[in-house]
Amino acid sequence: SDFDGKIAFITGGASGIGLGIARVLSDRGAQVVLADLRQDHIDKALAGFAGGGRSNAVSALQLDVTNRTAYREAAQRMQDEFGGIDILVNNAGVGLEGPILEATYADYDFGFGVNVGGVINGFVEFLPQMLAHGRGGHIVSTASLAAEVVMPSAMAIYGASKAAVCHYCESVKAELAEKDIGVSILLPGPVKSNIHETQQNRPAHLLEGSGYKNSEAKLARRIVGDNWMEPEEAGRLVAEGILANSTYIVTHGFYKPAMAARAEAVLAATPDQAEEAPDFGQFRDE
Ligand code: NAI
Repeated sequence: SDFDGKIAFITGGASGIGLGIARVLSDRGAQVVLADLRQDHIDKALAGFAGGGRSNAVSALQLDVTNRTAYREAAQRMQDEFGGIDILVNNAGVGLEGPILEATYADYDFGFGVNVGGVINGFVEFLPQMLAHGRGGHIVSTASLAAEVVMPSAMAIYGASKAAVCHYCESVKAELAEKDIGVSILLPGPVKSNIHETQQNRPAHLLEGSGYKNSEAKLARRIVGDNWMEPEEAGRLVAEGILANSTYIVTHGFYKPAMAARAEAVLAATPDQAEEAPDFGQFRDE
């Protein structure tokens, strides 16, 4: 298969989209490691692979992607066990929703800590081993269509964190391409998952003082729509995106008019200018 012998490390891999990606990549030949905060999700996910034809291709480790010491140890373990990884999927994320006037620093720190910090930690910990083993590699990071449009629900922290992921990945793509490392951004619309369990993924010190306790209690009761995408379908799109080194992997088209309107609004506010863009490559002698 197309992913034979590839080692894939998937954060948030024990539930929802990450698990869908894990199923598809393992079916298509990859050796997959699920790295997840939640031991209950890990146990359930591994039970789902047990007895299947590819159960030997899947293992798991408990990891909080915001814990840099633990992340470094996990990367070292991948080096020792597999000679380093080929595919990193920075997918762990938490869904924050709530009025901005109710948010406290605990909510900002939680949202940006996991959704941005976790992605950055993945790049920082795994890039050196991808460069060292010389096999090249690929890094997929899960953002959201909420990064591209302002959603009707109150998602300022979430959307801003995901927009940061998008811009970071877009910005590093060219530099990493020179080192044979591909970069993709997954932009999902609604996919069946447990993302409504946000509050269960908060460390105690960021639950204390949260202004989003009511918002997250409500979010926990949100019903997963029957017509939301199956995680395996998102996983299939990710597999194709890796093979094609697609910058953007987009699951749904229904925000296209809003995405176009946003781009048009920026362009409409931009003066027409005929002269050349500034040259930022000129430096004074030392
Ligand atoms: P999910 O909650 O089912 O899966 C996320 C997994 O990440 C869970 O198993 C959770 O335990 C784990 N996790 C949470 N915090 C973690 C941490 N600090 N360290 C390690 N693991 C952690 O949710 P879903 O929806 O599958 O989310 C995956 C990604 O997709 C997230 O980045 C999310 O923001 C994004 N997304 C999801 C959409 C959806 O409709 N489901 C839409 C757009 C983006």
